[in-house]
Amino acid sequence: MTTTYGTLHGKAALVTGGSRGIGAATALRLAREGADVALTYVNGKEAAEEVVRRIEALGRRAVALRADAADADEAAGAVERAAEALGGLDVLVNNAGVGVLGPLEGLTLADVDRVLAVNVRGVFLTSQAAAGRMRAGGRIITIGTCMSQRVPGPGGTLYATSKSALIGLTKALARELGGRGITANIVHPGPTDTDMNPADGPYAEDQAAMTALGRFGTAQEVAETVAHLAGAGYVTGAEFAVDGGHAA
Ligand SMILES: NC(=O)c1ccc[n+]([C@@H]2O[C@H](COP(=O)([O-])OP(=O)(O)OC[C@H]3O[C@@H](n4cnc5c(N)ncnc54)[C@H](OP(=O)(O)O)[C@@H]3O)[C@@H](O)[C@H]2O)c1
Repeated sequence: MTTTYGTLHGKAALVTGGSRGIGAATALRLAREGADVALTYVNGKEAAEEVVRRIEALGRRAVALRADAADADEAAGAVERAAEALGGLDVLVNNAGVGVLGPLEGLTLADVDRVLAVNVRGVFLTSQAAAGRMRAGGRIITIGTCMSQRVPGPGGTLYATSKSALIGLTKALARELGGRGITANIVHPGPTDTDMNPADGPYAEDQAAMTALGRFGTAQEVAETVAHLAGAGYVTGAEFAVDGGHAA
């Protein structure tokens, strides 16, 4: 699945959680394909501005927007802000997410509310707002997880619950928006080397061993598939594992 640079020329994209990790790699990759990019962040203002500078160095427009996906108004409002800054919206990448892992009995109501607010409600509201703004050719790409395909051990109840909801959302969006020429797909990363899940972290060796390839993926490897989907016209309602064979 190799994408030719330039396929997104003239398109405007919004990447949530674009200051670091998979989101930053995706924002840069979409820009290399020719897209102008808005990216959201919460705490990483400087990191987000650095991604903006790198995109501008590629000759594309970019803007960093502080928008907390846990806040309903900010989650939905990011779409209008991005569209205003870039003159429209063609591609939404729902990437912002949080992982709270741990034994079922230790998860608090606050944990449940926080994870569902960011990983599910925020994605729903941002997608709803984007669907209202997009025209034919629009693309909604959501970042799920390999743990919605296969939960390899204990500790994943809340995270897997939240990310599994996004599969249903993606398929329903595909049906809802297909008649308007808008696609919706979901990408399931496996263990990917980021701040959230560093390849030298305490559980990294076990995670790598659970993949067929025996290693972590990179944020760029996930971004490659997202960029492909941003340019693909006849793919919708589909799930894509970029997980090194974690689900195999
Ligand atoms: N890494 C993995 O192994 C892995 C595997 C499967 C799926 N995923 C999924 O991939 C996505 C990206 O993960 P990552 O590993 O790149 O994570 P990361 O390194 O922790 O980066 C998270 C990004 O999301 C932003 N973010 C966090 N909470 C936010 C909120 N409430 N509103 C808006 N932005 C927020 C962060 O911005 P600030 O720094 O500015 O706060 C940052 O840019 C997540 O949905 C995650 O669940 C990751």
